[in-house]
Formats: sequence, structure tokens, C-alpha cells
Amino acid sequence: MHVMIIPTMGCPANCSYCWSSEETSHIMTQKTTDDIIEWLKDFQKEPTTFTFHGGEPLLAGYEFYKHILGRIDKELDFLYPAYAIQTNLWKMDDEIAELFKQYEIPIGSSLDGPRELNDIQRGINYYDNTMKGYQIARKHDLNVSFISTFTKNSIKQKEEIFEFFKQKGLNMKIHPALSSIKSHKSDNFAIDPEEYGNLMLYLLDEYLDVADIMELKNIDHLCKGVLRKKGCVCTYVDCMDSTFAIGPDGSIYPCYRFVDMPEFKIGDVADKPSYEELMNTKAELLLKEYKEYVDENCSDCKHIDYCRGGCPYNALVYGDGNMEVSCVDPHCEAYKMIFDKIDELMNQKLDFAFDELNDVIEKDFNFTLNVGFENKPEDSKKKFTVMDIALKP
Ligand SMILES: C[S@@+](CC[C@H](N)C(=O)[O-])C[C@H]1O[C@@H](n2cnc3c(N)ncnc32)[C@H](O)[C@@H]1O
Ligand code: SF4
Ligand code: SF4
Repeated sequence: MHVMIIPTMGCPANCSYCWSSEETSHIMTQKTTDDIIEWLKDFQKEPTTFTFHGGEPLLAGYEFYKHILGRIDKELDFLYPAYAIQTNLWKMDDEIAELFKQYEIPIGSSLDGPRELNDIQRGINYYDNTMKGYQIARKHDLNVSFISTFTKNSIKQKEEIFEFFKQKGLNMKIHPALSSIKSHKSDNFAIDPEEYGNLMLYLLDEYLDVADIMELKNIDHLCKGVLRKKGCVCTYVDCMDSTFAIGPDGSIYPCYRFVDMPEFKIGDVADKPSYEELMNTKAELLLKEYKEYVDENCSDCKHIDYCRGGCPYNALVYGDGNMEVSCVDPHCEAYKMIFDKIDELMNQKLDFAFDELNDVIEKDFNFTLNVGFENKPEDSKKKFTVMDIALKP
């Protein structure tokens, strides 16, 4: 189970494309955090990751985290809690960093690339504020990786952005800028599916040379998904019955991206709703319908097992937030481009392995296995293969 806790939708930054920051949002009260704990005591009994998200989750401050982490750790230990936080790091200090170290909390932060490029998109001084927090986190030996949000503008400088993360040895994940159900603020930043597909192909190619000095999490996840035939991040699995997001006032939603949208509210922690009650709400039934829509409309696609139609939120954006399912994730074209490439490279690698095996068998036993292949793959100059990436621990 994945429980996302959104202590506030407020944020001191003002990123130009952000659909997730609300100036008037208050900070979650102690009563609400206590309601979360009491609710989860009798909810589902399965290993759970708690992710703090926002808005800007560090605005909640040290006492908030000391209290909630202490209670989860002691009273919800039967959920084998694991933690994560997604933050711009502006409010990171030694006290919070030490606390996060105690609970081994990996940090996801956000930086779009070099200072000038970043600050054009995310606002003046964003870069310096985040890097200051990053230094504090590293001083306390915390594991930090960055989301770089690629927009219609910054994608033109994809080489410079990748080089920046590579030179600094920073782990990264990319977000394609997306439109939102809540507002049209980000529409002009969104990149189209073909641009996104080409970006992923470019990044895969680059990453195969440097996978030992940095992590590019999207590519890791995609390669692992293709090999295992099952997605390993929310975008590529049926996330709907195992993810719950709790907004600052204790309202429950199917994901953090729906927070503050009354039509997607499925309950309130103070009422201690059961799993069955949540699953029978209008929003959850809509997401179940999405799953069925994917089974029907993607049935001919060879990537269905590790794509699952992508993200239902993205699909709903294109229905303009209407409570009806009318398409799969509009990034489908991009997913096909990158999955096709990984699949092809992975099969080449397997073909090559069988060829090698046949050479040995022919030599020693004088017969050929049926699984041999006529054509050897082209010699690649890359340091790593997609199989190396897929098998990374
Ligand atoms: C909404 S923020 C919340 C957490 C924290 N304030 C941060 O910036 O990391 C999480 C991530 O969503 C990304 N994001 C915001 N608006 C977006 C949009 N329109 N499309 C894609 N990603 C977006 C941000 O760049 C950030 O990396
Ligand atoms: S720091 Fe995060 S929440 Fe704040 S405006 Fe930027 S993307 Fe939005
Ligand atoms: S790649 Fe497209 S068609 Fe294939 S499963 Fe994903 S969304 Fe469906």
C-alpha cells in the first residue's frame, strides 16, 4: 500500500507550470495526523510506503515530522513502514536532516537543470535555495535524487540538462510537463507525446554510457518493467486500489494529484472509512472503469503488462476532468516508442546469448539448439546494455 501524506498545498516557490501549489492552504493539524494513525490501525495490514508530498511538505516543520514519524514507527509497525519525501529542500535544516537520517528517508527533490535554465522555469533564487538544502541533506548522508521537469522550452536544451546532472553525478528522474485538471496554467508548458518519446530515446542512449556514475530512474524503471513483465512505478501499474493520498484537512483521495478536488474526495480520515467504503466511491469506481477500459482498448498492445495504459490522471486531463473515461494516457505514443526500443535491445541481447550458447554446443556436442538466431546484433559501443540496467539491484 502507498499512503501519501500532504501536510500542506502551500509552497514558498512559484514554479511557472506547477499545478500543485495553493497559496491559502493551511498546515495539517496534530489532530489530523493523529486521525491518520488511528484510521490506519484498522485499515489494511500490508507493507506500506508513506510518502510526504505537497505543495511543499517541509513547510510543516520539525515538530510535525517528529510527531508523525514517531507514531507511525511505534504504532503502525505491523505495516513495516518505509518512507519517502518529495520536497524542494528550501526549508531543510540540520535538525530535520538528522531526523530523516534516523528513519532512513530517501529524498526526492526538484531541479530542472543548470541555474539559469532552472530559475527561468522555477523562479529567481530557486536554484540556490534548493542547492543549499541539498548540501545540508548530503552533510547528514541522506540519499537525494532530483526530478527535472521538462517543458516545451527546456526540452530544446536536453543535452545541456543531461550534461548538468551527469557532470554533478546527481541522480535524476524526468517529468514531462503536463496539463492539469485543476487549471490551464501549465497548458503552454506541456510537451507532446512524440517529443517525450524522442526525449526518452535520447536519454536511454546517453544513459547506457554512464549508468555507473548516476541513476536515471525512469530508464531503470522502464527496463526493469520490460524484463519482469510488470511495471514498477505507479504510472505503469494498476495503482488504483493501493494508493491513498491524504490532504491537509484529512480528506482522502486516490492520489496526491487529486487533492483539493471535491469530486475526487473518497473519504475523511476522521471517519475511519473501511477499504470497501473507499472502493465504492464515485472516484474509485471511475478508476476501476479505467482499468477495464485499458483491458479492452490496449488488448492488442504487446506492452500492456508493464504499461497498463499509463496514468489514469493523465487520461482524465484530456476528458477535461469530466468523470468519464474516454482515452488512455495521452503519452501512449511516447510509451510505445521507448518500450519498443527497450524490448528490441533486450531481445538482441538474448539472441546474442543464445548464439553464443549455440557456438559452444555445436563445437562440443555437434548439434544446434532450435532457439538460435541468424543475425548477430550490431556491435554496440555502449558501456552498458539494457539488460545491465534491468538487473541493477
Ligand atoms: C508538485 S511538486 C511537490 C513537491 C515539491 N514541492 C517539489 O517541487 O518537489 C512535485 C513535482 O511535480 C512537478 N510538477 C509540477 N507541475 C508539473 C506539471 N505541470 N507537469 C509535470 N510535473 C509537474 C514538479 O516540478 C515537482 O518535481
Ligand atoms: S516547489 Fe514544488 S510545489 Fe512548489 S511551486 Fe515548485 S513544483 Fe510546485
Ligand atoms: S503503450 Fe499505449 S496501447 Fe500500449 S498499454 Fe500503454 S497506453 Fe495502452
